[in-house]
Amino acid sequence: MASCRGQRSTVGPECVSRLFKSVVNMVKSKRFVVARHFDGLPKESDFQLVEEETPDLKDGEILVASIFSSVDPYMRTLSRRLSEGVTMVGECCARVAESKSSDFPVGTVIVHQYGWRTHAVLDTENQDPPRKAPADYPKDLPLSLLLGAVGIPGLTAYFGLLKCLEAKEGETVFVNAAAGATGSIVGQIARIKGCKAVGSAGSDAKVAWLKELGFDAAFNYKTVSSLDAALKEAAPNGIDCYFDNVGGDFTTTVLNHMNLYGRVAIVGGISTYNDKDPSSKGAFPYKAIQGKQLTLIGFVVSRWLDQWPQGKAQMMQWIKEGKIKYREHVTEGFENMPKAFIGMLVGENIGKAIVKL
Ligand SMILES: NC(=O)c1ccc[n+]([C@@H]2O[C@H](COP(=O)([O-])OP(=O)(O)OC[C@H]3O[C@@H](n4cnc5c(N)ncnc54)[C@H](OP(=O)(O)O)[C@@H]3O)[C@@H](O)[C@H]2O)c1
Repeated sequence: MASCRGQRSTVGPECVSRLFKSVVNMVKSKRFVVARHFDGLPKESDFQLVEEETPDLKDGEILVASIFSSVDPYMRTLSRRLSEGVTMVGECCARVAESKSSDFPVGTVIVHQYGWRTHAVLDTENQDPPRKAPADYPKDLPLSLLLGAVGIPGLTAYFGLLKCLEAKEGETVFVNAAAGATGSIVGQIARIKGCKAVGSAGSDAKVAWLKELGFDAAFNYKTVSSLDAALKEAAPNGIDCYFDNVGGDFTTTVLNHMNLYGRVAIVGGISTYNDKDPSSKGAFPYKAIQGKQLTLIGFVVSRWLDQWPQGKAQMMQWIKEGKIKYREHVTEGFENMPKAFIGMLVGENIGKAIVKL
């Protein structure tokens, strides 16, 4: 708390002004650290909330206040590399609150990857400066989409389907975790491109939403009697493009349903993320891969970083035209970040899981 040294009972105008200034400038910032490494599914007690004051800005620096924070599956895998006590990894959409950079005036909306925090002091002159929201970002679109359909999940769907899988008109595209942030966009782009879109998701409500989005077929993988039978029914002519978000045994089964020369994008393996050794699950079906002459491609969306502006422009256009619809699963309050993260890992979200600060 600020104090006026040398003043006891009487407080003059100059001191009041100084006191006011120091209180106004003092920004309390919160962040979550990983208190202990996750053992299986993370628990709320694995995180610790730390409160601190933000430092004064140096030239070239900005203070940003988060508006929305993202909770994503990759945070579970990346957390394995964090030491205990380190800020949890993550992405935020934030607004510049104070600035010592003419390129980032107060009010500028940016996206940064400096973890789970309410505020951050960022150096705009380093090699990885914060990314500004596109200059033509539509005023009527929520800024949270910068973490969803116009952010990493949307771009993953866009580049994964069109650059990696090269999905063509008339082909059958299968995506799992289809009612999530990425999967829901994959199916809709597939439809835009004239493909047959097939998806699986973990609840009947999710499946109903996929049908509203225009998926040709969708099923609840948790209630079908067998994944094999469900795939036979949903994709009777086989699968040409498999957008794999789930991995493990699920993928072993899907690979047996691929058509000759089918393409498989290994995008994520959420069914294994909480395992001690995520790579050990699921047999590798050599016979199907060799016999059907499949192409398996792993990718990380940053591979197309130089083309992100075009990808975002296309996503914004499709959203404006009503061709891509989105849904968000919003949790209110920074303090609820761990809860939102765990909820997303167990499938509570329909669409993009977001935390509103
Ligand atoms: N390669 C890249 O650059 C890149 C970029 C972004 C995302 N990804 C990957 O894409 C996948 C989806 O990410 P997202 O951000 O869009 O998350 P999301 O799909 O919005 O949320 C995760 C979903 O995964 C599903 N899930 C959880 N455990 C599962 C299990 N054991 N089996 C099947 N499904 C399970 C849940 O839905 P259900 O109710 O349907 O189970 C949950 O809602 C993840 O694997 C992620 O790592 C990769």
